[in-house]
Amino acid sequence: MADVKVYVEKHFEHSKVDDKLFSSFIEHLGRAVYTGIYEPDHPTADEQGFRQDVIELVKELDVKLVRYPGGNFLSGYNWLDGVGPKENRPVRLDLAWQTIEPNEIGIDEFVDWSKKAGTEIMGAVNMGTGTPQDAAFLVEYCNFPGGTYYSDLRKKNGHEQPHHIKTWCIGNEMDGPWQTCHLSAEDYGKKALETAKMMKWVDNSIELVVCGSATSLMATYPEWDRIVLEHTYELVDYLSLHRYYENEGNDLDFLSSFYDMDNFIKSVCATADYVKALKRSDKTMYLSFDEWNVWYQQKQTREPWKIAPEILEDRYSLLDALVFGGMGLTLLNNSDRVKIACLAQLVNVIAPIFTKKGGPVIKQSIFYPFEHLSKYGRGTVLKPVILTPTIKTRYGNVPVVHQSVICNEEKCEVTVFALNINEQEEVNVSIDFSSFGQLTLVEHICLYGDDLHAINTFEEPEKVKPMSLSIEQQTGTSFEVSVPRLSWNVLRFTY
Ligand code: AHR
Repeated sequence: MADVKVYVEKHFEHSKVDDKLFSSFIEHLGRAVYTGIYEPDHPTADEQGFRQDVIELVKELDVKLVRYPGGNFLSGYNWLDGVGPKENRPVRLDLAWQTIEPNEIGIDEFVDWSKKAGTEIMGAVNMGTGTPQDAAFLVEYCNFPGGTYYSDLRKKNGHEQPHHIKTWCIGNEMDGPWQTCHLSAEDYGKKALETAKMMKWVDNSIELVVCGSATSLMATYPEWDRIVLEHTYELVDYLSLHRYYENEGNDLDFLSSFYDMDNFIKSVCATADYVKALKRSDKTMYLSFDEWNVWYQQKQTREPWKIAPEILEDRYSLLDALVFGGMGLTLLNNSDRVKIACLAQLVNVIAPIFTKKGGPVIKQSIFYPFEHLSKYGRGTVLKPVILTPTIKTRYGNVPVVHQSVICNEEKCEVTVFALNINEQEEVNVSIDFSSFGQLTLVEHICLYGDDLHAINTFEEPEKVKPMSLSIEQQTGTSFEVSVPRLSWNVLRFTY
């Protein structure tokens, strides 16, 4: 059995975790909105047509922000189509996803939904067909108290109080040729700067996210990021990153996605820090990893011109959940720079929550690692010394057990997350907590199983789910824990 040693020192703090690290994303895409969060005929629908069974699961994930309304959809979206009396709203072609957008849900309804789901909105302004002025008008509509055209329009539409949307994305993936009205880095940088100025002039309390590269695989990466930041550095608060992984045929390579993601984050930080130096700035640019997940992009099919077609409905396996958990740990371990991270997406579309139209809702396998991260990943990430064997993968020599250690001072809890990517055997993890004194191991949650390709279905909704393993040693200053082969582990200690 392989051995991993972890030395945890309570004073070696890496970073405080921002609650916004546990955020998600809902786009007008496929069945995310229509028959996802909203289905007026559903037996659980409330008076506004929101599925309460879905709201309950969103609450379980304790999501801080939900990015809305896109995504690729954003770059052709006129937000005015989604406000006012529903019977007057236009039905539009959504060119990004080749679907029909009925506009039954817009910003006002989404604000209502977010309150019911116990979350906040990360707004987004259209930088494709949209202008800087459209963006400023949207901020006025949402955040200005009253007495102007757009703030009074919001009141007329039933929302007397401002929505107070604090965080805004300036466009989406504008480096991507697939984007409606895609721009060069220079053109986007200039447009984003003018847009940021106008948005902050309307409400200078807002925070802005400027588009970084759509993925590390873009030919324009990281030059795109450098150029955009050279234009916008002093006016924006975050640079965005997006990254999806899929199994390209080698499970071990797929399992080590977390390592590649770490490199991506580090090199985006280096790019941002280069611009910081160039500008002689004392401001640190934070990162918004506002799309991350497993996504099987090659299998994608499109049904043209339907309302809420079943597209991007990936069904996640145990293996996908392990990979997903590893990515989550990389986000935690980089939480000194990554302040926002959005699991893309939340319902039906590449999502942890999956509904049947008119029927039940289930948790996909990736629901669980996200739930664990959100429940036990809050506090301060520590910097343990880890001695671990490595395995050779396409991304280099990768630790066999990927870990993150979090101390929650308020709750007097320490959580050790451990992903074992060893395909052959279990690993013995010994953890030294001497600086804490005596600790109690209260729970060992583990997600693992014989069938890596098992998925949850409406017939078998709990096929993939974590279990509590029996604990051999309850208290001490050091612990020996065995983690099964190919497993996601949450070791919860109290002190
Ligand atoms: O999340 C699905 C899509 O992935 C989003 O619309 C886009 O931003 C990204 O390419």
